[in-house]
Amino acid sequence: MPITENEVHTLSAEYPWPVVRPTFSPADWMLDGGGKELIFARIGKGESFLVLEIGAFLGSSVKQWLAVSPNVYVIAIDPWEGDWWVDYARKNGRNSLAEQFAREDGPYLTFLSSLWKFKERLFPVRGKSPEKLYELANLGVKPDLVYFDSNKTGDDIDVVHQLFPDAILTGDDWTWGLEQGYPIRASVRKFAHKHNFKIVSDRATWVLMQRSLKISERVMNLTSFARDQARALRKVFR
Ligand SMILES: C[S@@+](CC[C@H](N)C(=O)[O-])C[C@H]1O[C@@H](n2cnc3c(N)ncnc32)[C@H](O)[C@@H]1O
Repeated sequence: MPITENEVHTLSAEYPWPVVRPTFSPADWMLDGGGKELIFARIGKGESFLVLEIGAFLGSSVKQWLAVSPNVYVIAIDPWEGDWWVDYARKNGRNSLAEQFAREDGPYLTFLSSLWKFKERLFPVRGKSPEKLYELANLGVKPDLVYFDSNKTGDDIDVVHQLFPDAILTGDDWTWGLEQGYPIRASVRKFAHKHNFKIVSDRATWVLMQRSLKISERVMNLTSFARDQARALRKVFR
């Protein structure tokens, strides 16, 4: 269902942007394991469309959803806090960004500064899933698509479906954690089995479908399977 003017109004009032852009350098940090075309194809290009992303980091996916069409709106949930931000930036050689993260509210204000030009269509929700999901549902918000990219466990998929039964469910990390047996897969498969959904995956991206898969989607799954085997073999012979 297209996002209503009322929803835009409510979200802007509940999750306001600062009046002045924070004096933090904008940062680009692409975390992308591939396969997002599966999602772009599902984001309505004509009518307005509301994406809810759980785990936004510095907004590399958020920017990609917003770029699909000027009719796309995004709610980005993330606590944007914790010591790990500074360590993570340092480990990746991003020393000036690490210094910026170390300032008060560094990650949050860096996010806002980086996404400033999208502030009419982006609602930053500072906090955690699932708590923030209940808050959004109580406000009457109905996302068209939910993208899971927070803690790689998928432990909030059921809650999302309960609160937003019509939303397309999709996420990242399908290829993350070979050693741990790809943790996101267990939750996604359990959910699919319980609610009679089908799964399609392409590289890191997965989508839950409430219909039979097309031949092209079955081929995608076979390709994913072949890539899994190649990855496992590489690990054995490394
Ligand atoms: C892998 S990063 C997300 C990458 C991001 N989607 C992108 O495109 O760059 C994971 C993010 O999830 C956030 N996170 C962790 N637990 C969360 C939770 N319970 N709810 C919302 N966000 C969470 C972290 O703060 C972190 O920024």
